[in-house]
Amino acid sequence: MFKRKALCRLDPVPRREGPYLYDWLKPLDLLQIARMEKEFFPQPYSLSALIWLALMPNTYYIVIRRGRLVVAYIGFRLFEKAAHTNSMCVHPDYRRKGLARELQLVANQVAINRGARWFTGEVRVSNTAQLNHLMSMGWLQVGHCPRFFKDGEDVIVVWKWL
Ligand SMILES: CC(C)(COP(=O)(O)OP(=O)(O)OC[C@H]1O[C@@H](n2cnc3c(N)ncnc32)[C@H](O)[C@@H]1OP(=O)(O)O)[C@@H](O)C(=O)NCCC(=O)NCCS
Repeated sequence: MFKRKALCRLDPVPRREGPYLYDWLKPLDLLQIARMEKEFFPQPYSLSALIWLALMPNTYYIVIRRGRLVVAYIGFRLFEKAAHTNSMCVHPDYRRKGLARELQLVANQVAINRGARWFTGEVRVSNTAQLNHLMSMGWLQVGHCPRFFKDGEDVIVVWKWL
């Protein structure tokens, strides 16, 4: 059901790196992603929202699997020249190993291969880990949006030329 997105010969997925497989989303991954969303995000995507997103032709989900376990994922949408992150997460047992960095590089390439020229996203002001991660990859903080989330938290708008 996810095969209607055009694959590109230059895409860096699927790719094996040691114990990890960088791969396109498979339908069963969504159950694990929904669990991670619920556990690690204050405003998670539900399983039905994830299915809806994954079926959209301009939305891409890339996962890192270890065996059958999804240890990290990123979802993003393409709006012509702009790529926009829905969410990304690395399971706590696999953090600080550089997986977020590698996954973002893979997502950048997938976006570039489809004509994107920049990546954007919104990061909660309290999310030091994600802000540090993106700043270390050359992303810029381009704005501040008060009360972006339903719980009232502000976000930093982040942006990166590809
Ligand atoms: C943010 C997140 C994706 C980082 O994943 P990760 O795989 O641990 O990140 P990496 O190992 O690639 O780290 C890259 C850099 O990010 C920064 N960083 C990562 N975690 C950090 C933390 N807890 N505190 C401060 N800086 C952190 C560091 O600069 C790090 O480089 P270093 O390890 O050389 O110091 C992960 O913590 C996570 O999934 N958090 C919960 C979900 C979330 O907030 N997602 C982002 C919003 S959509």
